[in-house]
Amino acid sequence: MSASVPVITLDGPGGAGKGTVCLLLANKLGWHMLDSGSLYRLTALEALRKDVRKEPQLIEIAKKMDIEYVPVKGQLQVLLDGREVTDAIRAEAVGSRASEIAAIAGVRQALLERQRAFAVAPGLLADGRDMGTVVFPQAQLKIFLTASPEERAKRRYKQLKEKGIDANLPELVAELKARDKRDCERSAAPLKAAADAILLDTTEMSIEQVVEQVMQLASQRFGSSVA
Ligand code: C5P
Repeated sequence: MSASVPVITLDGPGGAGKGTVCLLLANKLGWHMLDSGSLYRLTALEALRKDVRKEPQLIEIAKKMDIEYVPVKGQLQVLLDGREVTDAIRAEAVGSRASEIAAIAGVRQALLERQRAFAVAPGLLADGRDMGTVVFPQAQLKIFLTASPEERAKRRYKQLKEKGIDANLPELVAELKARDKRDCERSAAPLKAAADAILLDTTEMSIEQVVEQVMQLASQRFGSSVA
């Protein structure tokens, strides 16, 4: 990563609002955005489709899959081998498989350089679990977003319902807790705040309040270029 490219990392558990906040900030600042979870989800989707379970093949998928992000009306469309999979990678089954696959050190290594390549001018908003600790340890601003599991499950429930996807709230709470446990307890790049990250608990905050707060921190850190 070039030291001259400004990077803001947003790490935290699933459903803490990182994705939405990242997208809004990227649009506001005119910066690039990395949704690192989508890379693990794409690996998982391909693995599920091809019924791949063994580590060497999973690592091969992570290395070789042909992916593209296309900005469409302020959102990012995700293409895998030229096919649109934006909604397909959001399915709970894919998220769950992604969190299992994300515990494999070789898969994480295979995705590392792909992620670092996103750090190009004028700047990058990177959303994930290990953005501030492993992928961009030199980032100038690191945020760790959290919210209670119940609040995160409620947000995910709302998102799914809006997309017309059937969901069950108690099941979502259980699934989020299981995923948090896997993400925090794995030995390869576990979910944790970087020592120099700023912690933001968004349980009682609206998305607009979170965006406002991160914008304030960004202008303190980067000066008038982001005001
Ligand atoms: O953020 P999202 O829910 O899309 O991520 C899917 C899964 O990918 C997470 O549960 C986590 O296990 C994994 N992940 C990761 N490191 C990242 C981003 C996501 O391990 N930087």
